[in-house]
Amino acid sequence: KTYNVVLLPGDGIGPEIMDVATKTIDYVAQKYNFGIEYEQKLIGGSAIDKYNDPLPEETLKACKSSDAVLLSAIGSPKYDALPREKRPESGLLNLRSGLGLFANIRPVKVWPALISESSLKQEIVQNVDLVVVRELTGGIYFGQPKGRLQSENGERAFNTMTYSTMEIDRIARVAFELATDRKKKLCSIDKANVLDVSQLWRERVIELSYNFPKVELNHLYVDNAAMQLIRQPDQFDVILTGNLFGDIISDEAAMLTGSIGMLPSASLRLEGPGLFEPVHGSAPDIANKDIANPMAMVLSAAMMLRVGLKENNAADDLENAIDKVLKDGYRTSDLMTNGKKVLGCREMGEQILMS
Ligand code: NAI
Ligand code: MG
Repeated sequence: KTYNVVLLPGDGIGPEIMDVATKTIDYVAQKYNFGIEYEQKLIGGSAIDKYNDPLPEETLKACKSSDAVLLSAIGSPKYDALPREKRPESGLLNLRSGLGLFANIRPVKVWPALISESSLKQEIVQNVDLVVVRELTGGIYFGQPKGRLQSENGERAFNTMTYSTMEIDRIARVAFELATDRKKKLCSIDKANVLDVSQLWRERVIELSYNFPKVELNHLYVDNAAMQLIRQPDQFDVILTGNLFGDIISDEAAMLTGSIGMLPSASLRLEGPGLFEPVHGSAPDIANKDIANPMAMVLSAAMMLRVGLKENNAADDLENAIDKVLKDGYRTSDLMTNGKKVLGCREMGEQILMS
Protein backbone atom coordinates (compact mmCIF):
# COMPACT_ATOMS: atom_id res chain seq x y z
CA LYS A 1 0.00 0.00 0.00
CA THR A 2 1.24 3.50 -0.82
CA TYR A 3 -0.05 6.64 0.88
CA ASN A 4 -0.06 10.14 -0.48
CA VAL A 5 1.10 12.60 2.18
CA VAL A 6 1.30 16.36 1.72
CA LEU A 7 4.21 17.95 3.59
CA LEU A 8 3.92 21.56 4.70
CA PRO A 9 7.28 22.49 6.27
CA GLY A 10 6.17 26.12 6.70
CA ASP A 11 8.40 28.69 8.37
CA GLY A 12 11.07 29.09 11.05
CA ILE A 13 12.20 25.75 12.49
CA GLY A 14 9.56 24.02 10.31
CA PRO A 15 11.88 22.70 7.58
CA GLU A 16 14.48 21.45 10.12
CA ILE A 17 12.00 19.39 12.13
CA MET A 18 10.14 18.20 9.03
CA ASP A 19 13.39 16.79 7.71
CA VAL A 20 13.78 14.71 10.87
CA ALA A 21 10.15 13.56 10.75
CA THR A 22 10.26 12.34 7.14
CA LYS A 23 13.42 10.35 7.85
CA THR A 24 11.72 8.57 10.73
CA ILE A 25 8.59 7.93 8.63
CA ASP A 26 10.71 6.50 5.79
CA TYR A 27 12.42 4.20 8.25
CA VAL A 28 9.23 2.68 9.65
CA ALA A 29 7.59 2.57 6.20
CA GLN A 30 10.42 0.38 4.98
CA LYS A 31 10.29 -1.78 8.09
CA TYR A 32 6.52 -2.37 7.84
CA ASN A 33 6.48 -2.50 4.08
CA PHE A 34 4.27 0.35 3.02
CA GLY A 35 5.04 3.24 0.70
CA ILE A 36 4.77 6.97 1.26
CA GLU A 37 4.63 9.42 -1.60
CA TYR A 38 5.33 12.95 -0.42
CA GLU A 39 4.11 16.09 -2.07
CA GLN A 40 5.70 19.19 -0.60
CA LYS A 41 3.72 22.44 -0.70
CA LEU A 42 4.01 26.01 0.55
CA ILE A 43 1.96 27.60 3.33
CA GLY A 44 2.37 30.62 5.59
CA GLY A 45 5.30 32.98 5.16
CA SER A 46 7.07 30.89 2.55
CA ALA A 47 3.89 30.94 0.44
CA ILE A 48 3.52 34.71 0.89
CA ASP A 49 7.09 35.18 -0.37
CA LYS A 50 6.44 33.19 -3.52
CA TYR A 51 2.72 33.72 -4.28
CA ASN A 52 1.73 36.65 -2.07
CA ASP A 53 -0.88 34.29 -0.57
CA PRO A 54 -0.56 32.39 2.77
CA LEU A 55 -2.64 29.50 1.41
CA PRO A 56 -2.22 29.10 -2.37
CA GLU A 57 -5.06 27.29 -4.13
CA GLU A 58 -2.61 24.63 -5.24
CA THR A 59 -1.71 23.81 -1.62
CA LEU A 60 -5.33 23.44 -0.51
CA LYS A 61 -6.10 21.32 -3.56
CA ALA A 62 -3.19 18.95 -2.90
CA CYS A 63 -4.23 18.62 0.77
CA LYS A 64 -7.83 17.82 -0.15
CA SER A 65 -6.82 14.94 -2.38
CA SER A 66 -4.18 13.49 -0.03
CA ASP A 67 -4.39 10.68 2.54
CA ALA A 68 -2.99 12.94 5.27
CA VAL A 69 -1.34 16.32 5.74
CA LEU A 70 1.76 16.81 7.89
CA LEU A 71 2.47 20.41 8.89
CA SER A 72 5.38 21.84 10.90
CA ALA A 73 4.44 25.41 11.80
CA ILE A 74 3.95 28.78 10.19
CA GLY A 75 4.67 32.38 11.12
CA SER A 76 7.43 34.93 11.38
CA PRO A 77 7.74 38.44 12.80
CA LYS A 78 8.64 39.49 9.26
CA TYR A 79 4.90 39.58 8.41
CA ASP A 80 3.67 41.34 11.56
CA ALA A 81 2.78 44.53 9.69
CA LEU A 82 0.45 42.79 7.22
CA PRO A 83 -3.34 42.93 7.70
CA ARG A 84 -4.78 39.90 9.49
CA GLU A 85 -6.14 38.08 6.43
CA LYS A 86 -2.79 38.34 4.62
CA ARG A 87 -0.66 37.00 7.47
CA PRO A 88 0.77 33.46 7.65
CA GLU A 89 -1.64 32.52 10.47
CA SER A 90 -4.66 33.03 8.22
CA GLY A 91 -3.21 30.42 5.86
CA LEU A 92 -3.43 27.84 8.63
CA LEU A 93 -6.92 28.89 9.74
CA ASN A 94 -8.13 28.69 6.15
CA LEU A 95 -6.51 25.31 5.70
CA ARG A 96 -8.33 23.96 8.78
CA SER A 97 -11.69 25.33 7.69
CA GLY A 98 -11.05 24.48 4.02
CA LEU A 99 -10.58 20.84 5.02
CA GLY A 100 -13.56 20.98 7.42
CA LEU A 101 -11.43 19.85 10.38
CA PHE A 102 -13.92 20.19 13.23
CA ALA A 103 -12.15 17.96 15.76
CA ASN A 104 -8.87 18.97 17.35
CA ILE A 105 -7.23 16.17 19.31
CA ARG A 106 -4.41 16.92 21.73
CA PRO A 107 -2.95 14.06 23.73
CA VAL A 108 -1.19 15.10 26.91
CA LYS A 109 0.99 12.53 28.58
CA VAL A 110 4.06 12.76 30.69
CA TRP A 111 7.01 10.78 29.40
CA PRO A 112 8.40 8.63 32.21
CA ALA A 113 11.92 10.02 31.83
CA LEU A 114 10.65 13.60 32.14
CA ILE A 115 8.46 13.17 35.25
CA SER A 116 11.15 14.34 37.63
CA GLU A 117 11.87 17.32 35.34
CA SER A 118 8.34 18.77 35.44
CA SER A 119 7.83 22.17 37.00
CA LEU A 120 4.90 20.69 38.95
CA LYS A 121 5.14 18.18 41.79
CA GLN A 122 6.06 14.68 40.66
CA GLU A 123 3.08 13.02 42.38
CA ILE A 124 0.69 15.36 40.55
CA VAL A 125 1.98 14.78 37.03
CA GLN A 126 3.27 11.23 37.10
CA ASN A 127 0.03 9.52 36.01
CA VAL A 128 -1.18 12.17 33.57
CA ASP A 129 -2.41 10.57 30.36
CA LEU A 130 -5.33 12.48 28.88
CA VAL A 131 -6.64 13.71 25.55
CA VAL A 132 -8.39 16.99 24.91
CA VAL A 133 -11.04 16.86 22.14
CA ARG A 134 -11.79 20.43 21.13
CA GLU A 135 -14.44 21.55 18.65
CA LEU A 136 -12.50 23.58 16.08
CA THR A 137 -14.80 25.08 13.46
CA GLY A 138 -17.74 26.49 15.45
CA GLY A 139 -18.60 28.29 18.67
CA ILE A 140 -17.77 31.89 19.50
CA TYR A 141 -14.79 32.07 17.11
CA PHE A 142 -17.10 31.74 14.11
CA GLY A 143 -20.60 32.63 15.39
CA GLN A 144 -22.71 35.29 13.68
CA PRO A 145 -23.62 38.02 14.29
CA LYS A 146 -20.37 39.60 15.40
CA GLY A 147 -18.88 43.01 15.07
CA ARG A 148 -18.64 46.51 16.50
CA LEU A 149 -21.20 49.28 16.58
CA GLN A 150 -21.80 52.66 18.14
CA SER A 151 -24.00 52.81 21.21
CA GLU A 152 -24.92 55.48 23.74
CA ASN A 153 -22.18 54.09 26.01
CA GLY A 154 -19.50 54.44 23.37
CA GLU A 155 -18.48 51.75 20.94
CA ARG A 156 -19.79 48.23 21.61
CA ALA A 157 -18.29 44.94 20.34
CA PHE A 158 -19.86 41.51 20.34
CA ASN A 159 -19.41 37.88 19.31
CA THR A 160 -21.92 35.06 19.37
CA MET A 161 -21.38 31.72 21.02
CA THR A 162 -23.52 29.31 19.05
CA TYR A 163 -23.66 25.56 18.50
CA SER A 164 -26.15 23.46 16.61
CA THR A 165 -27.24 19.95 17.55
CA MET A 166 -25.36 18.69 14.48
CA GLU A 167 -22.12 20.37 15.53
CA ILE A 168 -22.35 19.14 19.12
CA ASP A 169 -23.31 15.59 18.16
CA ARG A 170 -20.44 15.07 15.73
CA ILE A 171 -17.69 16.31 18.08
CA ALA A 172 -19.22 14.46 21.05
CA ARG A 173 -19.28 11.25 19.03
CA VAL A 174 -15.54 11.62 18.30
CA ALA A 175 -14.89 11.99 22.03
CA PHE A 176 -17.08 9.03 23.03
CA GLU A 177 -15.39 6.81 20.45
CA LEU A 178 -11.96 7.87 21.63
CA ALA A 179 -12.92 7.22 25.26
CA THR A 180 -14.21 3.79 24.23
CA ASP A 181 -10.71 2.96 22.95
CA ARG A 182 -9.03 4.33 26.08
CA LYS A 183 -9.93 4.32 29.79
CA LYS A 184 -13.67 4.76 29.05
CA LYS A 185 -13.97 8.03 30.94
CA LEU A 186 -15.33 11.16 29.34
CA CYS A 187 -15.49 14.57 30.97
CA SER A 188 -17.51 17.20 29.10
CA ILE A 189 -16.67 20.79 29.94
CA ASP A 190 -19.23 23.59 29.65
CA LYS A 191 -20.78 26.50 31.51
CA ALA A 192 -24.31 25.13 31.62
CA ASN A 193 -25.15 26.99 34.83
CA VAL A 194 -24.98 30.28 32.88
CA LEU A 195 -25.03 29.76 29.11
CA ASP A 196 -27.92 28.53 26.95
CA VAL A 197 -25.47 27.19 24.39
CA SER A 198 -23.86 25.10 27.16
CA GLN A 199 -27.26 23.77 28.23
CA LEU A 200 -27.87 22.46 24.73
CA TRP A 201 -24.31 21.13 24.69
CA ARG A 202 -24.89 19.20 27.90
CA GLU A 203 -28.30 17.85 26.82
CA ARG A 204 -26.87 16.54 23.56
CA VAL A 205 -23.86 14.95 25.24
CA ILE A 206 -26.16 13.16 27.72
CA GLU A 207 -28.42 12.04 24.86
CA LEU A 208 -25.45 10.62 22.98
CA SER A 209 -24.11 8.86 26.05
CA TYR A 210 -26.95 6.31 25.82
CA ASN A 211 -25.19 4.97 22.71
CA PHE A 212 -21.98 4.47 24.69
CA PRO A 213 -23.09 2.74 27.90
CA LYS A 214 -19.55 1.56 28.67
CA VAL A 215 -18.19 5.10 28.84
CA GLU A 216 -18.46 6.79 32.20
CA LEU A 217 -19.59 10.39 31.56
CA ASN A 218 -19.30 13.36 33.85
CA HIS A 219 -19.66 17.12 33.38
CA LEU A 220 -17.62 19.96 34.80
CA TYR A 221 -18.12 23.70 34.59
CA VAL A 222 -15.14 25.18 32.86
CA ASP A 223 -13.98 27.18 35.87
CA ASN A 224 -13.92 24.08 38.04
CA ALA A 225 -12.24 22.12 35.23
CA ALA A 226 -9.43 24.66 35.07
CA MET A 227 -8.86 24.11 38.77
CA GLN A 228 -9.13 20.31 38.65
CA LEU A 229 -6.53 20.14 35.87
CA ILE A 230 -3.93 21.57 38.22
CA ARG A 231 -5.23 19.95 41.41
CA GLN A 232 -5.54 16.37 40.20
CA PRO A 233 -4.95 16.00 36.46
CA ASP A 234 -4.81 12.20 36.54
CA GLN A 235 -8.60 12.07 37.13
CA PHE A 236 -9.06 12.83 33.41
CA ASP A 237 -9.08 10.46 30.44
CA VAL A 238 -10.88 12.17 27.53
CA ILE A 239 -11.94 15.81 27.85
CA LEU A 240 -14.61 17.17 25.49
CA THR A 241 -15.01 20.92 24.99
CA GLY A 242 -16.19 23.60 22.61
CA ASN A 243 -13.86 25.90 20.72
CA LEU A 244 -13.18 28.69 23.24
CA PHE A 245 -13.01 26.59 26.40
CA GLY A 246 -10.93 24.03 24.52
CA ASP A 247 -8.40 26.61 23.40
CA ILE A 248 -7.75 27.63 26.99
CA ILE A 249 -8.04 24.21 28.63
CA SER A 250 -5.78 22.50 26.09
CA ASP A 251 -2.99 25.03 26.59
CA GLU A 252 -3.36 24.61 30.34
CA ALA A 253 -3.24 20.82 30.03
CA ALA A 254 -0.21 21.04 27.74
CA MET A 255 1.80 22.76 30.46
CA LEU A 256 1.43 19.75 32.76
CA THR A 257 4.03 17.90 30.75
CA GLY A 258 6.72 20.54 30.55
CA SER A 259 8.07 21.50 27.15
CA ILE A 260 5.92 22.56 24.25
CA GLY A 261 8.53 20.83 22.11
CA MET A 262 7.04 17.43 23.07
CA LEU A 263 3.37 17.86 22.13
CA PRO A 264 1.67 16.66 18.94
CA SER A 265 -1.88 17.26 17.72
CA ALA A 266 -4.32 16.11 15.08
CA SER A 267 -7.21 17.97 13.48
CA LEU A 268 -9.78 15.68 11.92
CA ARG A 269 -13.10 15.31 10.19
CA LEU A 270 -15.17 12.18 9.77
CA GLU A 271 -14.17 11.44 6.18
CA GLY A 272 -11.15 12.82 4.42
CA PRO A 273 -7.56 13.66 5.26
CA GLY A 274 -6.55 14.84 8.71
CA LEU A 275 -3.98 17.50 9.55
CA PHE A 276 -1.18 16.51 11.90
CA GLU A 277 1.05 19.14 13.49
CA PRO A 278 3.02 19.91 16.62
CA VAL A 279 1.34 22.21 19.13
CA HIS A 280 4.23 24.66 19.07
CA GLY A 281 4.80 27.48 16.56
CA SER A 282 7.64 28.27 14.19
CA ALA A 283 10.05 29.37 16.95
CA PRO A 284 11.72 32.09 14.86
CA ASP A 285 14.10 32.82 17.76
CA ILE A 286 15.90 29.50 17.23
CA ALA A 287 15.36 28.95 13.49
CA ASN A 288 18.34 27.79 11.38
CA LYS A 289 20.45 27.06 14.46
CA ASP A 290 19.91 23.31 14.44
CA ILE A 291 18.82 23.32 18.09
CA ALA A 292 15.03 22.84 17.77
CA ASN A 293 13.37 19.89 19.46
CA PRO A 294 12.04 17.63 16.68
CA MET A 295 10.13 15.31 19.02
CA ALA A 296 6.70 17.00 18.83
CA MET A 297 7.05 16.79 15.05
CA VAL A 298 8.00 13.10 15.13
CA LEU A 299 5.11 12.43 17.53
CA SER A 300 2.78 14.24 15.12
CA ALA A 301 4.06 11.92 12.39
CA ALA A 302 3.27 9.01 14.73
CA MET A 303 -0.27 10.35 15.19
CA MET A 304 -0.57 10.59 11.41
CA LEU A 305 0.52 6.98 11.03
CA ARG A 306 -1.88 5.76 13.73
CA VAL A 307 -4.98 7.90 13.19
CA GLY A 308 -4.67 8.93 9.56
CA LEU A 309 -3.08 5.90 7.91
CA LYS A 310 -3.92 3.16 10.44
CA GLU A 311 -0.31 1.96 10.53
CA ASN A 312 -0.33 1.28 14.25
CA ASN A 313 2.90 -0.70 14.44
CA ALA A 314 4.83 2.05 12.72
CA ALA A 315 3.30 4.62 15.08
CA ASP A 316 4.21 2.49 18.11
CA ASP A 317 7.81 2.29 16.91
CA LEU A 318 8.18 6.06 16.69
CA GLU A 319 6.66 6.61 20.13
CA ASN A 320 8.82 3.89 21.63
CA ALA A 321 11.89 5.45 20.04
CA ILE A 322 11.12 8.79 21.69
CA ASP A 323 10.60 7.06 25.02
CA LYS A 324 13.96 5.30 24.69
CA VAL A 325 15.90 8.37 23.62
CA LEU A 326 14.63 10.21 26.69
CA LYS A 327 15.35 7.27 28.99
CA ASP A 328 18.87 7.09 27.56
CA GLY A 329 19.35 10.65 28.77
CA TYR A 330 19.32 12.55 25.48
CA ARG A 331 17.77 16.02 25.52
CA THR A 332 17.38 19.04 23.29
CA SER A 333 18.12 22.39 24.87
CA ASP A 334 14.46 23.33 25.50
CA LEU A 335 14.29 20.49 28.06
CA MET A 336 16.00 20.22 31.44
CA THR A 337 19.60 19.50 30.47
CA ASN A 338 21.34 19.15 33.83
CA GLY A 339 23.68 16.20 33.58
CA LYS A 340 22.07 15.10 30.31
CA LYS A 341 23.45 14.58 26.82
CA VAL A 342 22.37 17.64 24.84
CA LEU A 343 21.82 17.17 21.11
CA GLY A 344 20.99 19.44 18.21
CA CYS A 345 17.95 18.93 16.02
CA ARG A 346 19.63 16.78 13.40
CA GLU A 347 21.61 14.75 15.96
CA MET A 348 18.40 14.09 17.91
CA GLY A 349 16.85 12.86 14.68
CA GLU A 350 19.71 10.42 14.20
CA GLN A 351 19.40 9.24 17.79
CA ILE A 352 15.67 8.60 17.30
CA LEU A 353 16.45 6.57 14.17
CA MET A 354 18.94 4.44 16.08
CA SER A 355 16.51 3.73 18.93
P1 NAI B 1 6.43 29.24 19.48
O1 NAI B 1 5.76 27.99 19.88
O2 NAI B 1 6.94 29.32 18.10
O3 NAI B 1 7.65 29.53 20.46
C1 NAI B 1 7.49 29.71 21.87
C2 NAI B 1 8.81 29.41 22.58
O4 NAI B 1 9.01 28.00 22.58
C3 NAI B 1 10.02 30.01 21.87
O5 NAI B 1 10.97 30.39 22.84
C4 NAI B 1 10.56 28.86 21.05
O6 NAI B 1 11.94 28.93 20.80
C5 NAI B 1 10.20 27.66 21.90
N1 NAI B 1 9.93 26.48 21.07
C6 NAI B 1 8.82 26.24 20.33
N2 NAI B 1 8.93 25.07 19.69
C7 NAI B 1 10.13 24.57 20.01
C8 NAI B 1 10.83 23.38 19.64
N3 NAI B 1 10.32 22.48 18.81
N4 NAI B 1 12.07 23.19 20.15
C9 NAI B 1 12.60 24.07 21.00
N5 NAI B 1 11.99 25.21 21.38
C10 NAI B 1 10.77 25.46 20.89
O7 NAI B 1 5.38 30.41 19.76
P2 NAI B 1 5.50 31.99 19.51
O8 NAI B 1 6.89 32.44 19.78
O9 NAI B 1 4.38 32.58 20.24
O10 NAI B 1 5.18 32.20 17.97
C11 NAI B 1 6.16 32.23 16.94
C12 NAI B 1 5.46 32.20 15.59
O11 NAI B 1 4.79 30.95 15.44
C13 NAI B 1 4.39 33.27 15.43
O12 NAI B 1 4.46 33.76 14.12
C14 NAI B 1 3.11 32.51 15.66
O13 NAI B 1 2.01 33.10 15.00
C15 NAI B 1 3.43 31.19 15.10
N6 NAI B 1 2.62 30.08 15.64
C16 NAI B 1 2.26 29.10 14.75
C17 NAI B 1 1.57 28.00 15.17
C18 NAI B 1 1.26 26.95 14.19
O14 NAI B 1 1.82 26.93 13.10
N7 NAI B 1 0.40 26.01 14.51
C19 NAI B 1 1.14 27.84 16.57
C20 NAI B 1 1.63 28.88 17.44
C21 NAI B 1 2.33 29.96 16.97
MG1 MG C 1 -4.05 28.36 21.67
